[in-house]
Amino acid sequence: MTNEVRAWWEATADYFQSTADVAEGADWTGAAYGDIDLDLLGDVRDREILELGCGGGQCAVGLAEQGAEVVGLDLSAAQLAHAKDRASERGVSVRFVEGDVTRLPFTPESFDLACNAYVFQWVGDLDACFRETHRVLRSGGRFVFSVPHPAYEVVDSESERVTESYFDTGRYEIHHEEVETPQVLYRHTVSEIHRALVDAGFVVEALHEPGTDDPEAYDPGPWGECTPSLMSKLPAVLVVEARKSA
Ligand SMILES: C[S@@+](CC[C@H](N)C(=O)[O-])C[C@H]1O[C@@H](n2cnc3c(N)ncnc32)[C@H](O)[C@@H]1O
Repeated sequence: MTNEVRAWWEATADYFQSTADVAEGADWTGAAYGDIDLDLLGDVRDREILELGCGGGQCAVGLAEQGAEVVGLDLSAAQLAHAKDRASERGVSVRFVEGDVTRLPFTPESFDLACNAYVFQWVGDLDACFRETHRVLRSGGRFVFSVPHPAYEVVDSESERVTESYFDTGRYEIHHEEVETPQVLYRHTVSEIHRALVDAGFVVEALHEPGTDDPEAYDPGPWGECTPSLMSKLPAVLVVEARKSA
């Protein structure tokens, strides 16, 4: 349920923004990947871009600084407050909208590109989200996003043993001692993500599983949540490039 996800982000946005090391611009892999990253958007000047789940606006602001016209949509007012502060500190114009990626408040064919990083693990109804994204993209428009790799997510990072079933999809909760609100997330398999994209009308052009077998290439992340040893054995992120056919 969207309200549960919103409640988590309203409760934790300030902590997240003060501790997470989110790079500016499109960063599909996050801090743990060090130098490994992919330049998938190319020249964004004058492109109309929708970031679906823009969080603190690091990506939206970075793309606007490269000359794109960016709309950043997010469920959480607290996250959007950080995004607005960031844009005004940097002196760039980004339109930030409070809303849900499964019900986009935009007219059809409004954008050249839709993107995000690390958002769809929070979204239960990927079918609705992908249908909506397809609707608001122009024909030929690209949809590029990353998610935590569904196979990595079922392995315990300390023991490196599989502790969850890959096939046990859907809603699950994580309880943190310091936060009363549970963290509600959704597990999707790779084939489910692919099927939802195809059903929505997208052509999937590439899947990326960035990584290397050298543990030294990785960083443990701001909360020690990433495990270089495990990341050198399994991809921690899945990056998808799709397109609305012309
Ligand atoms: C981990 S952040 C991703 C933002 C940025 N890429 C980052 O790594 O910080 C996840 C964001 O997705 C947003 N979000 C989750 N579900 C959403 C939904 N259904 N509609 C809009 N935003 C959503 C959350 O509010 C949060 O700001």
